[in-house]
Amino acid sequence: MAKKTVFSAATIGAGAIAQHCHMPGYAKSPHTELAAFADPVSARHKEIKKLFPDARGYKTHEEMFANEQLDVVSVCTPNKFHKDGVLAALEAGCHVLCEKPMATTLKEAQVMRDAAVKARKKLMIGFTHRTFAGTQKCKELLKQRAIGKPFMLRVRFAHGGPLPGWAKDDWFYNKELAAGGAMLDMGIHAIDLALWLMGPVEAVTAKTATIVKRIEVDDNAVLLLEFKSGALGYIEVGWTSKPGFTGLEVYGTNGSLICDYNKELQMCGGKASAGQDSVLEWKTLDKSPAKGGWPAEMVEWIDILRGKRRLTMTAQDGIDALAVALAAYKSCDKGKRVTIA
Ligand SMILES: NC(=O)c1ccc[n+]([C@@H]2O[C@H](COP(=O)([O-])OP(=O)(O)OC[C@H]3O[C@@H](n4cnc5c(N)ncnc54)[C@H](O)[C@@H]3O)[C@@H](O)[C@H]2O)c1
Repeated sequence: MAKKTVFSAATIGAGAIAQHCHMPGYAKSPHTELAAFADPVSARHKEIKKLFPDARGYKTHEEMFANEQLDVVSVCTPNKFHKDGVLAALEAGCHVLCEKPMATTLKEAQVMRDAAVKARKKLMIGFTHRTFAGTQKCKELLKQRAIGKPFMLRVRFAHGGPLPGWAKDDWFYNKELAAGGAMLDMGIHAIDLALWLMGPVEAVTAKTATIVKRIEVDDNAVLLLEFKSGALGYIEVGWTSKPGFTGLEVYGTNGSLICDYNKELQMCGGKASAGQDSVLEWKTLDKSPAKGGWPAEMVEWIDILRGKRRLTMTAQDGIDALAVALAAYKSCDKGKRVTIA
């Protein structure tokens, strides 16, 4: 059978991330066409009519699958609905790109992974931060042991919160729909980077808190990670700050990587000591470390669909990151260190 040249694509959920990332990605690529979307809210249909007039709108994914012959679907709904969207898309014979966090419970995420295996379809999780120029370079340098043995990771991601300014309504602040706050929303990206760059996590100790906003979920969090390698890591995320340091740092026995998303990626080598003989050798490796992101993620996904690249942001990666995030909430609830099964 001839290989499909143009994949028919749709999104379930047509809000902010669908409009900024998935829909333009499918519409721009010569290998995909944005055929349809499903979203229950009429205002979305009006917005999409202006942005992507050829996309056919439906109120539910059931109606969409009954009327469209689709090859690929992005699931861009509030977190609680990821599982239903992914399962319906797999049942309709589609490959699926699911937004992060993969699901709201580990059980749901495992069902999604198993359904994709059974359907023999690709299921990718949208871990956008892996597609930044700076994080890609860090991955390559760590693989080459450019800074020796990494022993410490720091990640900080923070902004003023998804509403106002980003999301189409306040579901991010609703515990039932989101399952968590800043820790699950931004922390899941940080946790995925930690696992990707440093390897598996043995245990997590965390404090999540609602400090500034009057919402049901956490608006700030700090996590202490113990990696199986013996390295340590800490993650700080928040929905209440103006920009400060945003990015990650990895410290190794022979050097450090400082990936400041707002500035540059630097590597520091030289002799480390507390004394006057300490030597610092700074090198700038990339002047736009946050280049990439959503457009790069969509190009990567479409290459994967076409068999040009291997799937790397897998369902198992989604489960592994979720396991650490949920353990972090448990740690905060119990006031204890929690080991990862
Ligand atoms: N990868 C990233 O960088 C990134 C960035 C932002 C958001 N996200 C993720 O994307 C997802 C969506 O977030 P958003 O910012 O677009 O939120 P949003 O509020 O802007 O959009 C969500 C949309 O889903 C629709 N919706 C609700 N229930 C639905 C259902 N059952 N079926 C179909 N549509 C439904 C809503 O009407 C809304 O239009 C979340 O999981 C979020 O964590 C990822």
